[in-house]
Amino acid sequence: MCPGQGCSSISCILMEKTSLKKCIFLSLIFFVVTGINFTNYPTTKWHFWRSKLHPSTLHPTADLSHHSAANLTEQNITPIKDTKHFLVSAYKDHRIDGTIRIITIFRRDDVRRLYCIIGCAQQGYLVTAAEIDIHSDHFGFPYQTTDLLCKTEPKCDPTNVTISNFLYSLDIPDMIFLPIQNRERKEHNFKHNFTVCISNLFGTYNNVLQFVQTIEVYKLLGIEKVVIYNTSCGPDLDKVLQYYREEGTLEIHQWPIDQFLNPSKGWKFQRDKGDLHYYGQLTTLNDCIYRNMYRSKYLLLNDIDEIIMPYQHATLEHLLEDLQRQNPTVGVFIIQNRFFPKTVFGDEGRFSFPRWKIVPGVNILEHIYREPVKKDVYNPSKIIMNPRQVVQTSVHSVLKNYGDTLRVPPDVCSVVHVKDRLQRRLSKEQLIVDKKLWEYQKDLVPNVDHVLNTLGIYERIIKYAYQKDTPLQETSQLIKVGKP
Ligand SMILES: *[C@@H]1O[C@H](CO)[C@@H](O)[C@H](O)[C@H]1NC(C)=O
Ligand SMILES: *[C@@H]1O[C@H](CO)[C@@H](O)[C@H](O)[C@H]1NC(C)=O
Ligand SMILES: *[C@@H]1O[C@H](CO)[C@@H](O)[C@H](O)[C@H]1NC(C)=O
Repeated sequence: MCPGQGCSSISCILMEKTSLKKCIFLSLIFFVVTGINFTNYPTTKWHFWRSKLHPSTLHPTADLSHHSAANLTEQNITPIKDTKHFLVSAYKDHRIDGTIRIITIFRRDDVRRLYCIIGCAQQGYLVTAAEIDIHSDHFGFPYQTTDLLCKTEPKCDPTNVTISNFLYSLDIPDMIFLPIQNRERKEHNFKHNFTVCISNLFGTYNNVLQFVQTIEVYKLLGIEKVVIYNTSCGPDLDKVLQYYREEGTLEIHQWPIDQFLNPSKGWKFQRDKGDLHYYGQLTTLNDCIYRNMYRSKYLLLNDIDEIIMPYQHATLEHLLEDLQRQNPTVGVFIIQNRFFPKTVFGDEGRFSFPRWKIVPGVNILEHIYREPVKKDVYNPSKIIMNPRQVVQTSVHSVLKNYGDTLRVPPDVCSVVHVKDRLQRRLSKEQLIVDKKLWEYQKDLVPNVDHVLNTLGIYERIIKYAYQKDTPLQETSQLIKVGKP
């Protein structure tokens, strides 16, 4: 749609000065009439924006096409100049006419007009107004995952994009651009069938044993790729991550959110405080969906200490084949959590190997008691999805999607989650024995040992014990158990 003659879309920048006034005027009417919804905008901000646009204060850059921008960022977090917002990544969304979707971390009280500066191959730059789509889930925090939508034109083949809150005196060479990803659409022949998106790693998380066990179980279930966003982690886990990256299983994205904001360690603003829910978990999950939209047939969204486990099928492939055949229109499968308290141990001690005792972290094979599902309360869940049917996601459910959603019965598929106890009053007898994980032990135990051995985790810990003046006898004991 074009607001006026000679005024290409809503981009006034590329025009001659004479028709500029007319274009701005028409654009104003265009915004008001076509609907970028101003009701959410505080009055002062609206005035601020209007005064910026007053023709007498405008100094438009006459022609941007011969400027070549030098800065294409590889960072995952880029501040938007003169605002409180941050750019994360940009994707072409083929489901809405190739509109560019920029995933951002957006300060909710800093709403003002924003403009997309789109680099079009061989065509210079296209400037359009950004439509602001704030995700509905924010758990009360001031910063929130938000999509900025930039409409393009048929003659523009968009390659990069950035956001500005000015419509005039654009200094293109100084601006930082995001590459536009997903430029090609694909409906089959994906590189992977299953990819896991693990949102955020932060603090000094060093739960090596549970992580290695989890990845090795996932590999047995048919997972080919795991994507993780790393803010920080403990020293041993860092080695494990590098190992899996070299092996090709793990794709790591650096996520230094703590250098820009004061991220919350929890999910509830009233209690946990901070700028942003759980180190930006909602943002990274949404980024993971778009990043893998044309790379993976299905995505699993779960936390680092969770395994989405088929209870009746040997692999995820078989599970999804069945689910999808029975429910062809479903693109979102909601999987209920099963909690295995890490303080309750099996009696037999069958997998309580001494060599695993010296590895930091939880041995999930020791925990075979799970809590019964509470009736009439909210039970957390995680998601298996066809990413091409999802627009926006939260942690336990999706926010916007095409197609249908199915709650998968827990006896068909559940999340195995070994963690702190939730229902403290229950005695061991009231818990349910669930040895599902043991079915994988034949391959799982040697695979886990192989990783820990290759990494030298056993030796490292023994050396540490030795330096600490551990009595010789104990050390040799450790060396013995360290070599399975
Ligand atoms: C952005 O795209 C345009 C058009 O393809 C190109 O001329 C420009 O160099 C690109 N900018 C960066 C930073 O790569
Ligand atoms: C994905 O699954 C299909 C069968 O549904 C199989 O033919 C194909 O080889 C699998 N792709 C990969 C990368 O494993
Ligand atoms: C994870 O992030 C921390 C902090 O930036 C960094 O020191 C570490 O090398 C990263 N680890 C990996 C495997 O990328």
